[in-house]
Amino acid sequence: MTTTTPTGLGLRDSSLPNQITEIDQKTGQKTVKMGEMIFPPRKVWIKTFGCQMNYHDSERILSHLSDLNFSLTENEEEADMILFNTCAIRDLSNQKFYSQLGQVKHLKKSNPQLKVGVGGCVSQTEGKSLIKKYDHLDFAFGTDVIDTINDMVYRTYAGEKRFSINSWDRSQNFSIETKVTHGSPQAFVNIIKGCNKYCTYCIVPYTRGKERSRKKAEVVEDIRRLVEYQGIQEVTLLGQNVNSYGHDNGETLAELLMDLENINGLELIRYTTSHPYDVSDELVAVHGSSKKLSKHLHLPVQSGSDEVLKRMHREYSVEHYLGLLEKLRKAQPEIVLSTDIIVGFVGETDEEYQMTLDLLEKAQYDSIYSYVYSKREKTRAANMVDDISKEVKGERLRHLQKFQQGIQEKIRQGMLENSYRVLVEGFGNMGGVKKWKGRTNCNRLIHFLPENNDQDLQWNWVDLKVKSTTAFSCQGEIVKIYGKRMPR
Ligand code: 5AD
Ligand code: SF4
Repeated sequence: MTTTTPTGLGLRDSSLPNQITEIDQKTGQKTVKMGEMIFPPRKVWIKTFGCQMNYHDSERILSHLSDLNFSLTENEEEADMILFNTCAIRDLSNQKFYSQLGQVKHLKKSNPQLKVGVGGCVSQTEGKSLIKKYDHLDFAFGTDVIDTINDMVYRTYAGEKRFSINSWDRSQNFSIETKVTHGSPQAFVNIIKGCNKYCTYCIVPYTRGKERSRKKAEVVEDIRRLVEYQGIQEVTLLGQNVNSYGHDNGETLAELLMDLENINGLELIRYTTSHPYDVSDELVAVHGSSKKLSKHLHLPVQSGSDEVLKRMHREYSVEHYLGLLEKLRKAQPEIVLSTDIIVGFVGETDEEYQMTLDLLEKAQYDSIYSYVYSKREKTRAANMVDDISKEVKGERLRHLQKFQQGIQEKIRQGMLENSYRVLVEGFGNMGGVKKWKGRTNCNRLIHFLPENNDQDLQWNWVDLKVKSTTAFSCQGEIVKIYGKRMPR
């Protein structure tokens, strides 16, 4: 049976019971009750595809589920529930999701108690058909109903079969009051959802809906609480187009950044992702004056050809874009820039492609994300003739990445023997050797050896001197360790 439940604005269904949590004084064991139903400790495996917005949504999902006695597992085989948080931006991410969804069918055969849910951008528009098509799916939910995830889980365990929940354009579900930090001093905070830009290649306006900004006072209060009560030192402000922030409320991103600057204990502010059209002079000035704003800006350009930019409906010219980089570098000489590039967009000639290489040379990006154009149904470009062969697209991408690699190699060499303060984010095994990694203020990763193998440097602030570099990474050595609070 397929049940689809329209939930209006997607607010909580008031006929569903509230959660009651009891902790056994002796054993410390947590029991959660919703109505007559008891939720014992269970494990959830969440597979996230796509951008930071999706990763943050997964974090919010987990934060809600932990109230229902779920904890995260890295092992899908031991999961009581599997959730997919999907991405629709390119066909490749779609394909990965569908292949993993297929694999889960086998898990469900060997464990019929397993519950499977799908959220995210694919589910936002395709939820109902996913439920119809895949009979091992228990529920599907859109991107605007995350705060009611526990009701969906309750309904699933209450025996309701295969339903989908969706809603559009809610702005009251942004806030995350608590966060599962595991001691991390970093937090993502949504400030705007949706996008009104309708770039001709992009599916986002169709999956995330219209722009809605949170009120500045509410965002500031949320972050103040994260800093005061949860030890957060670094925030990343999130939105599909953060530069449009506040347009609907008469507020601006620049004003928000200036207000955040005043929060004691907040050390570092990042924001992503940006559209060059809305970068105001006021915002450029804040990059120069702010003491807490990261000296890194991700400013997607997509192409170095005015004609391609017109076909993409990007609303700026190459000259305007390069002028913006110049203004930013003048305001903040230490700023480090990165971008997104699409190659092989409909009708892209060899000359137009060459213009993108010219732009890379002029812009001197610290890093880029580059993709071949992927046709998305519903978008305006889907009606244009996608006339570049797969081979040409692939060749242009490889060539562009090689070209950019040369630029980055030189930029990284310029970092040699300089010292950088990093916040240590974790460690990895590099050729059998344990190395820690930290991110600089300007978003560059530096790997380094601890002073001894047992040293735990997680979430420490450390000064590192760069000793060797490649196009993509740096190796450094410890100069000074400050501990878990940013030194004054
Ligand atoms: N094909 C390829 N890349 C795309 N992007 C968005 N839509 C598409 C598409 N249809 C890229 C853009 C954007 C980034 C998040 O994904 O470069 O900035
Ligand atoms: Fe997509 Fe363009 Fe909006 Fe970015 S600005 S999310 S590329 S429509």
